[in-house]
Amino acid sequence: MSTPLDYSGSERARRVQSMFTQIARRYDLMNRIMTAGQDVRWRREVIQRAQLEPGDSLLDLGAGTGDLAREALRQQPASRPIAADFTLEMMRAGQNHGPLDWSAADALRLPFPDAAFNAVVSGFLMRNVTDVQRALDEQYRVLKPGGRIVILDTTRPRPNLLSPFIWLHLHFVIPLLGALLTGQREAYTYLPESTEGFLRAEELVARMAAAGFKKVSFRVKMFGTVAIHWGVK
Ligand SMILES: C[S@@+](CC[C@H](N)C(=O)[O-])C[C@H]1O[C@@H](n2cnc3c(N)ncnc32)[C@H](O)[C@@H]1O
Repeated sequence: MSTPLDYSGSERARRVQSMFTQIARRYDLMNRIMTAGQDVRWRREVIQRAQLEPGDSLLDLGAGTGDLAREALRQQPASRPIAADFTLEMMRAGQNHGPLDWSAADALRLPFPDAAFNAVVSGFLMRNVTDVQRALDEQYRVLKPGGRIVILDTTRPRPNLLSPFIWLHLHFVIPLLGALLTGQREAYTYLPESTEGFLRAEELVARMAAAGFKKVSFRVKMFGTVAIHWGVK
C-alpha cells in the first residue's frame, strides 16, 4: 500500500490531491470522530488568534471544506474570508455547508498579490505541502504588515508515558476508522506517517521565523499530537 510520502515533488502533490478527492465526502465526519469533536474547539482558537476586526480579509489556506473560513464569519460576521484549496472535490463538499467565497489555489504559488490579507490561517495543511518554507514565504508575502498567521496541524509528540497508547491510536485505530468510514485506509495511514515525517513544533517555529514572522509561538493539544502556531508579519 503506497501513500503520497512514497513520492516527492509534484508527483507527491498530485497524490495528496487525489487522496483528498477520494475522501472529500466523508472528510468532516471522520474529523469529528477522530478528534472526539475537539477540532471544533481548536478552530475556534485559531480564529480568535487571527484577531479579526470588521472588514478584515482572511485567507483560509488548504481550506478543504471551509470550516475555518466559516468559523471566521461566525466570530466576526463583518470579516471577508476566502477559502482556498487545490482539491476541487473538497471545496465542492464544503459548498453544501453554506455560502463562502472560494478560490482554487496552490499554497506554493498563491494567486494573490502581495499584502492582500490581514490574516492567513490554515488547518492541517502544512504537513501536506511538499515545501514548507516556500508555503510560509508565500503566506508572508500575501500578508499585510502587522498581519497574523495561525497554523493548526498535527505535530510529532514528545515521548511521554502515553506514547505507546498514542502510537496504537495513530497506527491502528485511525486507519481502521478511516477504512470503515471512508473506504480509504491509505489516507488514514498517511495521516500518522505524515505527522511523524513533519517538523517538530519547535522546528516549525524556526521555519516561521526564517520566513520573517515575529512573535512566533505555539501551544500543543491532544496529548501533544496537535499544535497551534502563530506569528505576526
Ligand atoms: C487535511 S485537509 C484540511 C482541510 C481543512 N483546512 C481542515 O481544517 O479540516 C488538507 C487540505 O489541504 C489541501 N492541500 C494540500 N496541499 C495543498 C497545496 N499545496 N495547496 C493548496 N491546498 C493544499 C488539500 O487539498 C486538503 O483539502
